Amino acid sequence: MTNNIIIFIHLIAAAIAIGSMVFSIILLLPSTDKVPAQQELEEFSIPYKTVELLAPTVFTCLLILIGTGIYYLLENYTGQMALKPGYYNLFGLKLICVVVAFFLSIYQTFNLRARIANLDLSPENRKIVPKTIQQIKKTTTPVLVTFSLALFFGIWLARF
Ligand code: HEM
Repeated sequence: MTNNIIIFIHLIAAAIAIGSMVFSIILLLPSTDKVPAQQELEEFSIPYKTVELLAPTVFTCLLILIGTGIYYLLENYTGQMALKPGYYNLFGLKLICVVVAFFLSIYQTFNLRARIANLDLSPENRKIVPKTIQQIKKTTTPVLVTFSLALFFGIWLARF
């Protein structure tokens, strides 16, 4: 039962992270790019609101995935001794993807997003908003790719 709950949370976190990246970067933002620019403050624009929510959402999901992944390994510690050879090679590949996604996600959340946070307190940063949003969009692609690879390796591991 515990295993089912851990894997359920693991899968929900993966679905939320991948789903939000696909929705924001592939579906929503390309379509809002075609909307004529509005005379509104940067912080009320759809791209700003989207990346403001996306970066911390992906990072939180990653933390949940790491937590539940490690907890699953600890729960099944004894069962893991008799695994087929090759399991940990796959697991290593999965962790490489996770590490890459993790550092990119930290960069997005604590560097890029932080630069354009609280625009009412630092209005001089308004001019870097479009460039920073572009950078967040660009770095989301490798996060999405490594996340999807980790998802694939996870599914493979569960059936190994
Ligand atoms: C980007 C992050 C991650 C994604 C997208 C991901 C995705 C998945 C998926 C889809 C499964 C298959 C579940 C099933 O079908 O039963 C899985 C299983 C698993 N994941 Fe992850 N995972 C991620 C990160 C991690 C991390 C950081 C760890 C460990 C530190 C981890 C450890 C595991 C373990 C131990 C399993 C079970 C494998 C088995 O049944 O033998 N995962 N993961």
